[in-house]
Amino acid sequence: MSIRVLAIGGSLRKESYNQQLIRQAQRQAPQDVVIELADLSDVPLYNGDIQAEGFPASVLRIAEQAAQADAFLIATPEYNYSISGVLKNAIDWLSRVPSAPFQGKPVALASASMGGLGGARAQYHLRQVLIYMDVHVLNKPELFISTAHEKFSAEGELTDVASRAGLDALLAALAVQTRRLQASEPAAQAA
Ligand SMILES: Cc1cc2nc3c(=O)[nH]c(=O)nc-3n(C[C@H](O)[C@H](O)[C@H](O)COP(=O)(O)O)c2cc1C
Repeated sequence: MSIRVLAIGGSLRKESYNQQLIRQAQRQAPQDVVIELADLSDVPLYNGDIQAEGFPASVLRIAEQAAQADAFLIATPEYNYSISGVLKNAIDWLSRVPSAPFQGKPVALASASMGGLGGARAQYHLRQVLIYMDVHVLNKPELFISTAHEKFSAEGELTDVASRAGLDALLAALAVQTRRLQASEPAAQAA
């Protein structure tokens, strides 16, 4: 059976390098991996009063996608040495959904930045934030796309050979970890 991966991009920009990276991941995905996109564009700012009236449809939609997913790929931009507010806000909402659709599942991280560190600082913050979600974040490989404006073509293709190889390695590791967890914890994965 195919592995279903839900990809979450932390930037809403049309030309976002992180969204381009996710679309590249769809093209490079191993044969047994299907990558679906989460749309964060209509997720409102977290507000406990809104939650008390009922989760917004956008949050329930992503939570349902997460429930159906076997694994996750998160591509985050780096904003002021951390993750974007868009991504943090989505995580905040999803962490409140009682069914905990992320719990126990593997997560691969990636980041693209126009800076020289490729979003490394944001990724390490993201690791901390994800602790509460009780997910299995891959330690390695790490994928940082630095000077992203030089590594994607005008058409949005990742043209840098080393970055493409890094993406292949990340997706392969995510597939291996997903199969491993499914074999060791079939009940948790099916829940
Ligand atoms: C508010 C803001 C803060 C930023 N802070 C950083 C930063 O701390 N480190 C970095 O490498 N790039 C930083 N950048 C540049 C982003 O890496 C760059 O805009 C990148 O393209 C954003 O990701 P995206 O292409 O997916 O939208 C910042 C950009 C914005 C808009």
